[in-house]
Amino acid sequence: MSFYLTTAIDYVNSRPHLGTAYEKVTADVIARYKRLTGVETHFVMGNDEHSQNVYKRARDSGEDPLAYCDRMETVFRDVWSRLSVSFDDFIRTTEPRHKAGVQRLVQACRAAGDVYDGVYEGWYCVSCEAFKQEKDLEDGKCAVHLTQPEWIREKNYFFRLSRYQRPLLDYYAAHPEFIQPEVRRNEILRLVEAGLEDISISRAGQSWGIPLPFDGSSVVYVWFDALINYASAVGYGTDDEQFARWWPADLHVIGKDITRFHCVVWPAMLLSAGLGLPKQVFGHGWVHFKGQKMSKSLGTVVDPLDAADRLGADPLRLYLVKEIPYGGDGDFSWERFEERYNVDLANNLGNLVSRITSMAEKYRGLQVAPTALGPGRLAEVATDVLAAYIDAMERFALHEGAFAAFRLVDATNEYIAESAPWALARNPADAERLSQVLYDVAEALRIAAVLLQPVMPSASGEILRRAGETRDVSELRLARDAAWVADVPRTLVKGANLWPRLEPGRPDTTATATTATTETPVPNTPDWKPNAPAPEAPLADRPAESAGIDVPAPHAATTASAQPETALAPGHHQPATMPGSQVPDGERLSIDEFMKVELRVARILTAERVAKSKKLMKLWVDLGYEQRTVVAGIGAAYEPEQLVGRTIVIVANLKPAKLMGIESNGMILAASSDDGRPMLLSVEEGAQPGMKVR
Ligand code: MSP
Repeated sequence: MSFYLTTAIDYVNSRPHLGTAYEKVTADVIARYKRLTGVETHFVMGNDEHSQNVYKRARDSGEDPLAYCDRMETVFRDVWSRLSVSFDDFIRTTEPRHKAGVQRLVQACRAAGDVYDGVYEGWYCVSCEAFKQEKDLEDGKCAVHLTQPEWIREKNYFFRLSRYQRPLLDYYAAHPEFIQPEVRRNEILRLVEAGLEDISISRAGQSWGIPLPFDGSSVVYVWFDALINYASAVGYGTDDEQFARWWPADLHVIGKDITRFHCVVWPAMLLSAGLGLPKQVFGHGWVHFKGQKMSKSLGTVVDPLDAADRLGADPLRLYLVKEIPYGGDGDFSWERFEERYNVDLANNLGNLVSRITSMAEKYRGLQVAPTALGPGRLAEVATDVLAAYIDAMERFALHEGAFAAFRLVDATNEYIAESAPWALARNPADAERLSQVLYDVAEALRIAAVLLQPVMPSASGEILRRAGETRDVSELRLARDAAWVADVPRTLVKGANLWPRLEPGRPDTTATATTATTETPVPNTPDWKPNAPAPEAPLADRPAESAGIDVPAPHAATTASAQPETALAPGHHQPATMPGSQVPDGERLSIDEFMKVELRVARILTAERVAKSKKLMKLWVDLGYEQRTVVAGIGAAYEPEQLVGRTIVIVANLKPAKLMGIESNGMILAASSDDGRPMLLSVEEGAQPGMKVR
């Protein structure tokens, strides 16, 4: 089995930004996942150099265009290496192997009768590198770049795209999986059904580009040229054996703005040349900065190296994968990045690593060994999580895969809180149980690290080492090594805290985006270690075990939810303090402010008491579109069995907060009696989970 995947090749007129990096990182996660499953993988990326903008940019700085592209290759490679992007090959469109592939494919299309000459007259947007029709313009300007397109009239060669309307529709029908996700497929279907016009594939009188094999006075249009990289990178035009080995590609990962080129033009070119069609094109969404498009002029461009320098490449990768549903659009802000770092890494995964290694050292000299008691319930959770993870990753639902891995991390932290190893250690009669708990926790952590390997390669390697894995990460295989091992003693390894928690109010937490320049230095910090040290001892190093509880991070709520201390923490219910409703007008909420609170109907699926707490109840609730954990302070008033099946209302858009080590994702609504006893609000029969409450 083999898998050939590619990303879009980047224009080199500016250095990579977080949006282009998002694509490379997510494709890398897919490549690493495939390798982890034992599939021979060929992952290709590269640079798109024959753009007019690149030429202009080089000339403006008085540089030879090729020398400029050489320099930019180094810049791009440095960024990708710093973000741990593990491509197998990097192609540049100025390379001779690419030129050979382009000329061969253009010839093949001409031989098929699909290339003819004519005169093109119309608009051309150099920034898009695209011919524009009047209807594409807004106030005479390119709708994307808001710049005036050029009017050109020149002898051009055209490709008979119109001929491929039917074959393409047939192909889409026979291969419904070809265009992913579904929303992109529908867009393309509508577009092709509306009819296709022939397209110009050459530019006259230009020197920067690949000459047409049959007319040296014209160069191949940059998009026609660029698409062919996917074939030339695996030997088309230079190495037939290699081409036969890898072609057709299994997956092209590209942004949603260029699906038309990849799902319409590219397959038509291949059909014309008599070549096989790629098996799948995945059009991912856009990463915005604080809700705005990344744009140099708006100052909203984030340099991925700034983000990796701030907290590490692995935390950045995790953010991009876990926080943005793959296929949809997503957002980046420094605040959110730091918040997720604290919640997922400092308080959760990093804390788990510190706790198990500390406890294993303290109680068992770092040796963890299974006992006759056999594995506890974590083994079942790990098995479920592995199945969910594989299902998600096979569908390229990368965010769901990351969530699955974190479900295991959460369950393991909860298991520690419940089984209280520090209490077991006090009683010699519990020695065997203590050994088994430590073994199970270490094993669950090991499995979580295997699952997270594609997303956080560096950190995962380090966690595996600490969990007693002695093999090289490249030797690991998902099916074998993410399965529960019940009988292998291991020696754990202690080490420095992986992710010190960030304290709120650090001076640089609200930095804005920067304009990416070619000058940014490439730093060299270890991936798993943020270079922003926490000013105080991190949670993981505090003796939480001795207190018998997993201390909720006192300020995680502030970082994670930006709520004032007096506000209700998610799941907590406090007595009403405001008599009547005599709120001065100035303090009343506007309707817009109120509408920011997302109230939704939810159904309680399971309810259990949180160990060592009288008040806290852990609820697993159904919101129709998803299920999640909510921790609520209603344990003094309700028994779990009174709650299961009830339909309630929750605040669904609160930032997560940790309570007794459990991440709560919402707050349930309840009335508060004078003595502080919570009384759940009922919802009329028929209300469905997920419905909005206004
Ligand atoms: N050179 C062409 C692609 C040719 S492929 C045969 C190109 N280059 S690009 O540099 O403009 O974009 C490279 C990739 O990054 C594209 O897939 C594009 O969609 C993606 N992204 C650019 N900005 C992005 C975001 N803000 N967010 C996510 N992806 C974005 O297009």
